Amino acid sequence: MSTLLQDLEQLRQEASAALAQTHSTEESEAWYREYLGRQGKLTGMLRGLGQLSKEERPVAGQVANTVKVALETALQARQEQIKQIEIERALSAEGIDVTLPGRPQTVGKLHPTTATMREILDIFGQMGFQVYDAREVETDDYNFGLLNFLPGHPARDMQDTFFTTTPDVILRTHTSPGQIHAMREYAPAPIRVVLPGKCFRNEDVTARSEMMFYQVEGLAVGRNITFSDLKGVLLNFANMMYGEGRKIRFRKSYFPFTEPSVEVDVDCILCGGKGCRICKQSGWLEILGAGMVHPTVLQNGGYDPAEFSGFAFGMGIERQTMLKRSVDDIRYFYENDVRFLDRVG
Ligand code: FA5
Repeated sequence: MSTLLQDLEQLRQEASAALAQTHSTEESEAWYREYLGRQGKLTGMLRGLGQLSKEERPVAGQVANTVKVALETALQARQEQIKQIEIERALSAEGIDVTLPGRPQTVGKLHPTTATMREILDIFGQMGFQVYDAREVETDDYNFGLLNFLPGHPARDMQDTFFTTTPDVILRTHTSPGQIHAMREYAPAPIRVVLPGKCFRNEDVTARSEMMFYQVEGLAVGRNITFSDLKGVLLNFANMMYGEGRKIRFRKSYFPFTEPSVEVDVDCILCGGKGCRICKQSGWLEILGAGMVHPTVLQNGGYDPAEFSGFAFGMGIERQTMLKRSVDDIRYFYENDVRFLDRVG
């Protein structure tokens, strides 16, 4: 009996010392298996109680139970300590250094085309032009025929066309077909609209030309609209877009849907007309095409040319942005290089 009690005491000491050497949940679990588990040392000793006499058994059993409870309590306490140690270890391993400087977030901007487009629409909005949205996929008739491009006329070659698999359905090459849509919707009321949007041309991509680009079209139709109204509106636009005191000039040109037709230049915003690299020493920068709406086009739009007249103009948005922000290559616009978008947008 006394040997068993001694053994129990020795086991308690051994187990307590071993428990103090556990430093992780795994180690404490291994300790449990070694001492308290079904194959553990204490369990083995408890089995030996059966060999004791009837009188000795309760005493030894009580001592053994006290040792078991003491070890279980000690294990619980040790496991609590280990949990704390492990939390601290994990925190210091994943530690956040609150003194590190923050990472700057990049702030989004409008795309340069969108910014210029909004600026232009705002300027014409102040002159009483309302925005009219027209379609990007057009019929050959709206894009050409109704705009007085005769079949087989070489003027069609001015705008190389993307065709679709549906006969006569094309991607619009300019925003001018929107003129017909707007006129047909509003005739015979007077109209003053701007038509922004994408255009597509099957052209070689160069520093000045893209296959997809944006235009803004302008159209005014009424009873007494003259060329000087066109001139006034465009001079006002040049001043609001490129700065007060701008000069514009008209050069004769040809579009099948306007008569007379002109190209409009503004005096070079960089050199003020003296001549520089940007204006190729001419002192002038081309900004748009324009003219008085051709009588046939008025008629196709539902207006009687004997009673009504009108002017129209069309400009490229990327080219306006290039002039205003000194961008020398149109290909930057849709390459999505953040350095360009950030500087020009
Ligand atoms: C036209 O598209 C006419 N519809 C403009 C017009 C409207 C004239 C109303 C009269 C009355 P043009 O082909 O010149 O014209 O194009 C007008 C503008 O679109 C050009 O000045 C240029 O700024 C832009 N543009 C044309 N082709 C491209 C291209 N491939 N890439 C980028 N911009 C282009």
